Amino acid sequence: MSNHLDTLLQEQRLFEPSQSFRQQANFSDPSIYDRASENPEEYWAEQATYLDWFEPYESVCEWDPPHAKWFVNGKLNAAYNCVDRHVRKGKKNKVAIFWEGEPGDSRAITYGMLQKEVDVAARMLQSLGVKKGDRVTIYLPMIPELPISLLACAKIGAVHSVVFGGFSAKALRERILDADSKVLITADAGYRRGKPIPLKANADEAVVDTPIEKVLVVERFGKDAGIEMKENRDIYWAELAAKVSREPLAAEPMDAEDILYLLYTSGTTGKPKGIVHTTGGYLVGANTSLRSVFDLKDDDVFFCTADIGWVTGHTYIVYGPLSAGSTVVMYEGSPDYPGRDRFWDICEKYGATILYTAPTSIRMFMKWGPEYVKQHDLSSLRLLGSVGEPINPEAWMWYHEHIGQGRCPIVDTWWQTETGCAMIAPLPGLVATKPGSATKPLPGIFADVVDEEGQPVEPGNGGYLVIRKPWPSMLRTVWGDDERFRNTYFGKFEGVYLPGDGAHKDKDGYIWILGRIDDVINVSGHRIGTAEVESAMVSHPSVAEAAVIGRSHEIKGQAITAFVTLREGVESSEDLVAELKQHVVEKIGAMARPEEIIFTAELPKTRSAKIMRRLLRDIAEGRVLGDTTTLADPSVVDELKSRYKESD
Ligand code: WTA
Repeated sequence: MSNHLDTLLQEQRLFEPSQSFRQQANFSDPSIYDRASENPEEYWAEQATYLDWFEPYESVCEWDPPHAKWFVNGKLNAAYNCVDRHVRKGKKNKVAIFWEGEPGDSRAITYGMLQKEVDVAARMLQSLGVKKGDRVTIYLPMIPELPISLLACAKIGAVHSVVFGGFSAKALRERILDADSKVLITADAGYRRGKPIPLKANADEAVVDTPIEKVLVVERFGKDAGIEMKENRDIYWAELAAKVSREPLAAEPMDAEDILYLLYTSGTTGKPKGIVHTTGGYLVGANTSLRSVFDLKDDDVFFCTADIGWVTGHTYIVYGPLSAGSTVVMYEGSPDYPGRDRFWDICEKYGATILYTAPTSIRMFMKWGPEYVKQHDLSSLRLLGSVGEPINPEAWMWYHEHIGQGRCPIVDTWWQTETGCAMIAPLPGLVATKPGSATKPLPGIFADVVDEEGQPVEPGNGGYLVIRKPWPSMLRTVWGDDERFRNTYFGKFEGVYLPGDGAHKDKDGYIWILGRIDDVINVSGHRIGTAEVESAMVSHPSVAEAAVIGRSHEIKGQAITAFVTLREGVESSEDLVAELKQHVVEKIGAMARPEEIIFTAELPKTRSAKIMRRLLRDIAEGRVLGDTTTLADPSVVDELKSRYKESD
C-alpha cells in the first residue's frame, strides 16, 4: 500500500471539466454541494420526486443509529418505476436493454416488451407459490432473463438474492440456506469463451437438503449442456411461461422500507453477509447517481460491463438506468471473445455514450495495446466511469487517452455493496478530476477521513474512511444478523458508518481511496474474505493451517497467496498445489483460486498467536525474500519468524 500511496501523492495532474460539458450537465450549479450539506433531507426529498410514488411518504428520514428509515410510510414499486411508468409515459417502443450474447446473438428489448416479459415472469413466480416477502435465489448468466427475474420479483414484492454465476455449488448452497429461499432460478449453462459453465449441474448439487422446492430453468445453452431435469422440482422457463396468463399484472404497492433484495458479500469472517437493501431509499439513491455522477440524459446509451451478480450490475444495469427510463447495453461474455476488441465492437455497434468498467479491465486493455481500440469508432462516447478498486494514475491516463480520446470526463466512483450507489465521485460538470482520486463525496453524502479517535484528519493525512450521516441507499442490516451489522459497520465510531477502507485526504480536500484495511481482498474488483479462503483451505484433509493474504498484482489489483502448513506425514508436491487450488474453486468459485500456494513448516505468528499477515504480504510481494512465487523453503519462514522475534 505504501508504494501505491507514494505514486498517488506525486500525482499532480488536474483535469477541469470542459466548457461544453459543463454547459450541458444535469448538475451544473456548484451551490448544490452547500445546499445538500446544509439541508440533506431537502436534497433527498427533491431527488425522490424523480420516482413515482403510489402513496407519499410522511417524513424523509428517521435515524435511530445504526438504523435508518427513509421516505417513511411512502408506498412505491421498483418494477413499476423501472418499467411500467415508462410504458405509460410514451416510451413503449424505446429500447430498454440492448442485449449482446457471447456467441453473437442479440436482442433489442423495448420497454413495452420488457413489461410483458416481466409480468409473465412475475406470474410464473406466483404459480410456483412465491409471495410478497419470500426470497428467490437467482443463479443466472448475463442473459435477459436475469434482469427480468429481478424485476419480476420486485413487481410482486418478493426479495431477490442473486448469486454470481462464477460461484461454486457449495457457495450457492450456503447463500440459499442463509436466505431460506424456496425457489431458485437458473439456466442449463452459461457461455464463457464459447464453453459451457454448468450452472444447472451446480444448482442440482446446491439445492439438496435446502428449502428449495422449485427450480426454474432457462434454456440458454441447449442440448449440449446435457442437464437432467428432476420431476416435480425442475421446470423450464419457456414451458411455464406458456402456461401463465398474458394479462398485465398490477404492481404490488411496497412500503419504502420493504426489502427489495439481499446481496451476499464477503467480510472478515468465513461467512458471507446478506446485505439488505430496501425499496424507496435504494431506488432514490440509484436513480439520483445516474443523473448526477453519470449525467444521464434521455438519449444516452449506458454500457456497464459489470455482471448483475454483483452490486454494480444491480444498480447500474438494472435499477439505476431503468428507473431513469434509459437504454442499457448488457453483454453476456468475456471481453476477449472472439477477439480482444469485443467491448469496442459493442460500443460502436450500439453507439454507447457512457461506459462504466473496472480498473482491472482497463489494465488488461493496456496490456493488450491500443490497436484493438483503434479498430472501432468510439466517437459516441461522452463519459467514462471506473469502479471496484482504486484506479492507478497510469490506467486512468490510458483510459482518458485511448478510450475517452481526451474528450470524455472520467468519473472514478467509490462505493460498496453496502452503500447501494456511488458515494464518492466527481460531478463531471463541476469537479476537476485528478487521476487516481475519487475526488469528493457526492451531494448529500457525509464522507470523511478520520484518525483513530474519529477526528477528521488534517489535509495531507490519511486515516479511516467514514460516513457520518445516513443516506437513502444504505444497507439496513445484515440478513438475520443485526449484531454483525452493528459491530462491523458501527462498532468503531458511535453512530458513524465504517466502510473498511483506508483513505488519504489531500490539501485540496480530495479523497484518495487506498484499499481495504480489514481482511478483505479485492481480486479483479471481486471482494473476497481471506477467512473464507482459509476455511476452504483447512477443509482439505491435507491441510493443517492456512493463512491467506492479498498481494499486489499488475492486472488484478490483488492476487491471492496462501501460506499452508500440511498435516503430519503429508508431502508437498506440485500435484498437491493443483489439488488445493481446485479445492478452493469448488468451495467458493474460480475468482477465489489462489495465485500461489507456499508450503511452510510453520506460519509466522506473534507471541499472542496472531498470524503476522503483514510479514506474509512482505514475503509475497518480494520485499523480504525476493521472488517467492514458487514453493518457499520452510526454514526461510522459520528464519523470518526468529528475525521478527528479535526485533519484537
Ligand atoms: C473497493 C463494488 C477505490 C473498496 C461497487 C470498497 C474502490 C469495495 C472503488 C467494495 C473505487 C470500490 N476506488 N476502491 N472507485 N470502488 N472500491 O462491495 O475497497 O464489491 O470497499 O462494491 O471495493 O466492493 P463491492
